[in-house]
Amino acid sequence: MLDVLAVSKQIGGLRAVNEVNLSLGENEIVGLVGPNGAGKTTLLNMISGISVPSSGRILFCGDDITGLPANRICRKGIAKTFQIAESFPGLSAMECVMIGALFGNHHAPGMAQARVESAAVLDFVGLQEDKREVPIKNLNVVELKRVQLGRALASRPKLLLLDELTTGLNPKESREAVDLIKKIRDRGVSILIIEHVMSVIMGVSNRIVVLDHGEKIADGNPHSVINNQQVIDTYLGDLHAF
Ligand SMILES: Nc1ncnc2c1ncn2[C@@H]1O[C@H](COP(=O)(O)OP(=O)(O)OP(=O)(O)O)[C@@H](O)[C@H]1O
Ligand SMILES: [Mg+2]
Repeated sequence: MLDVLAVSKQIGGLRAVNEVNLSLGENEIVGLVGPNGAGKTTLLNMISGISVPSSGRILFCGDDITGLPANRICRKGIAKTFQIAESFPGLSAMECVMIGALFGNHHAPGMAQARVESAAVLDFVGLQEDKREVPIKNLNVVELKRVQLGRALASRPKLLLLDELTTGLNPKESREAVDLIKKIRDRGVSILIIEHVMSVIMGVSNRIVVLDHGEKIADGNPHSVINNQQVIDTYLGDLHAF
């Protein structure tokens, strides 16, 4: 459903992403890993329309979405998590998720319907009921992550892009996140996930793609990728989590 074809991003004198090819099928979870500065976030930003590729093409469900604005890409069914806390600190969890329901990949259902749908989504992501009307600036990091995920899900994506969703979570919370990510996939959503914690990546991914200095250096099933010598030398060797 997603085909990234020879996509590059030039930022000043730096080639942050260099001719990367990547594909993702229906109901697939692909893990995107690599050292700091490898170009992972830059690649996700181009897929979600936050930035425009310098060259190459991005196809989604047969449509060429290269360079479309983020709101049009969201309506086509691609959602990305981002740091809500910095964007709408005064909104409640419910209001944040309602934004996703109202402006996402389906007909604007009206406020009442958006509220009903958002309550169901907040249930699904496991936010306690008494936290729903609290301003999100008063939520803890785990609760915020749940809201962030709920907001993306409320837009009813076909493809979900997760950029370091489990950063800051403890091992138990990370395991809960892994279960939740699998439940989302089982509802028919494809997922592209950036993560540094290898136990999370190994726990969820059908396939792993490794970037280094903007280039793809490996793409395959998790077992073959973590035994790839170049991947061990450039990335895994430095990871204490592994
Ligand atoms: N807006 C920008 N202006 C200048 N340089 C940028 C910009 N965005 C990204 N870069 C550079 O592009 C490269 C890739 O950055 P990117 O954020 O995509 O890496 P990443 O793989 O997500 O790293 P991390 O694991 O640390 O999140 C880095 O060298 C970064 O400094
Ligand atoms: Mg990043």
